[in-house]
Amino acid sequence: MSTVYLNGEYLLKEQATVSVDDRGFLLSDGVYEVMSAYRGRLFRMEQHMGRLQRGLEALRIEYDLVGLPDIHTRLIAANGFDTAEVAIVYLQITRGAAPRTHHFPPEGTPPTVYAFSDVYVRPEMALWEQGYEAITVPDHRWARVDIKSIGLLPNVLAQQAAIDAGVTDALLVREGIAMEGSHNNVFAVLDGVVTTHPATTQILHGVARAYVIELARELGIPVAERAVPLEEMRAADEIFFTGTTTEVRPTVRLDGDPVGDGEVGPVAKALYEAFKEGTRVAVEAS
Ligand code: PDD
Repeated sequence: MSTVYLNGEYLLKEQATVSVDDRGFLLSDGVYEVMSAYRGRLFRMEQHMGRLQRGLEALRIEYDLVGLPDIHTRLIAANGFDTAEVAIVYLQITRGAAPRTHHFPPEGTPPTVYAFSDVYVRPEMALWEQGYEAITVPDHRWARVDIKSIGLLPNVLAQQAAIDAGVTDALLVREGIAMEGSHNNVFAVLDGVVTTHPATTQILHGVARAYVIELARELGIPVAERAVPLEEMRAADEIFFTGTTTEVRPTVRLDGDPVGDGEVGPVAKALYEAFKEGTRVAVEAS
């Protein structure tokens, strides 16, 4: 039975309840984070906390993040995931419970803070090496997707379109530009350059995205952050997605057509190996 965190308490999930007046429930009025822990050690927590802080400020929700790393570590341990190769913590902060209004609730309404932990199971290498398929889906999201808002309806519909098509990932396309995935960022390898959309308000600034850019530079692979037209993406040597619950996932078919030679490419492979090694070393160093 899983233990969750809700408003200062660690509870069995079955005992954790929130009000039907919660503004997260009624209005999607909140933000969330998904963080990873490798053998119980939180990975790149500062980056996740920085993004969360920026999201809270943009939404004008007041909540002090100082206790969160401890809450995360305790939640992972309480569920016995501290020995798991990869665990995740989902954290959501809403503007709290108050009778429904579009404007903010009365001053002093406490935010609702909920977190749960789970394991992330890495795919077998044999499966990963076969590669994955993706489809393109129109990006129908709002203009501030750099805020990790809990309002994810376009992402939900995009990912369901991928599932309905029998593929793993959805590539969101806005005005002819390949933006990112429904829950991950996207990269293309174009003439040997690892290329991804710049960190504007039109994509989520992925922690894995930033990490993979760092890894590419360490490996001496050139990196460019620029908008990639879908047509250029279709002609890429390699495509891969990155994210906390994606790590590095290579796409070998896009809308049914082979990407490059239709096999997982050397750049995605090198970056995934470096990613796994980096998380292993980070655990040993902590
Ligand atoms: N999603 N883009 C979108 C739209 C995302 O929702 C996510 C993360 C990312 C990758 O960000 P990061 O590398 O920090 O995980 C990019 C999380 C995992 C989710 O919604 O479950």
